[in-house]
Amino acid sequence: MKKLTFLSKTTTLLLLSICLSSCSSTDDSAMENTPDEIDGSSITYENTIKGIMTSECTSCHGSTTSQGAPMSLVTYAQVVDAVDNRNLVGRIESNTNPMPQGGKMSQTKIDQIKAWVANGTPEK
Ligand code: HEC
Repeated sequence: MKKLTFLSKTTTLLLLSICLSSCSSTDDSAMENTPDEIDGSSITYENTIKGIMTSECTSCHGSTTSQGAPMSLVTYAQVVDAVDNRNLVGRIESNTNPMPQGGKMSQTKIDQIKAWVANGTPEK
């Protein structure tokens, strides 16, 4: 009797952990919170990148630039130009000369921008 109880508990735990692990891996891909698994095909300027620029960059790279920033990062065209001609990706990943100036963004934001660039910088 005791053995049976132990066995059924073990089985329940096993089933539970199988369910949990398969459920959580589904969640990861749906929610894009695992940097390695970011699906670039769902990231656009409109739905993701513009928001990152606004929260992390436009305090200096605004339509009127400040604190010595050399260009604006306010429109889609300006951000794409910075990717193509001003090493934007290199700068957000840099350890020696990062953007934003004060220190790097979260790895998730960096990975979202990289995935967007890898996918051809779609606007929407
Ligand atoms: C606190 C102000 C400030 C913030 C915030 C900031 N920058 Fe900058 N940025 C500068 C300054 C000043 C320069 C020029 C000096 C330099 O290159 O380090 C610059 C230069 C750059 C350059 C190189 C431009 C060139 O032609 O060489 C890129 C790319 C860039 N920033 C991207 C970004 C991005 C992307 C963000 C947000 C993730 C950001 N910056 C946030 C101040 C800022």
